[in-house]
Amino acid sequence: MAEHRRSGHAKRAIYPGSFDPITNGHIDIINRGIAFFPKIIVAVLRNPRKATLFTVEERLDILREIFRKQPAVAVHAFDGLLADFAKSQGARVVIRGLRAVSDFEAEFQMALMNHELNPSLEILFMMPRARYTFLSSSIVKEVASRGGSVRALVPASVAARLREKFRRLGRS
Ligand code: PNS
Repeated sequence: MAEHRRSGHAKRAIYPGSFDPITNGHIDIINRGIAFFPKIIVAVLRNPRKATLFTVEERLDILREIFRKQPAVAVHAFDGLLADFAKSQGARVVIRGLRAVSDFEAEFQMALMNHELNPSLEILFMMPRARYTFLSSSIVKEVASRGGSVRALVPASVAARLREKFRRLGRS
């Protein structure tokens, strides 16, 4: 930990997730987080067991494009345990968004396990802005797959990718 402090890495935060795809709710949390951390690492889990709409490479691409003008935001993929990835990055803080009571139980369990695995890790929960409390990647995919507009919910680049993806899949 002293080493982290010396290197300045103690001030890094990890913002992990599936980001399938990233929404304006995620972006809001990242932009607000930057006010407190000089570096936020947006970390995309490589999870072959979870069926996703976008591949990890597509999601990294989308994220890097969105944050290309924000040097305080780095984008990485990770395998295995988040607690280990945080250690490898010298980060002591994990940021998670907490939208509603329904998120709480799983997040609470995950936070305690991450802390158990890496006791020097702090899990920081941030509330989304009220206008994003209903927003999730799943609901965005549901609407987009049926031809609905998601322009107010995701960046324009993501809306375009969704349209293209579902057009290829023949679903909208
Ligand atoms: O966007 P998501 O799907 O809610 O993100 C979940 C994520 C990626 C943060 C979580 O599944 C994760 O960290 N997985 C890596 C494996 C791990 O470390 N699990 C936590 C111990 S319970």
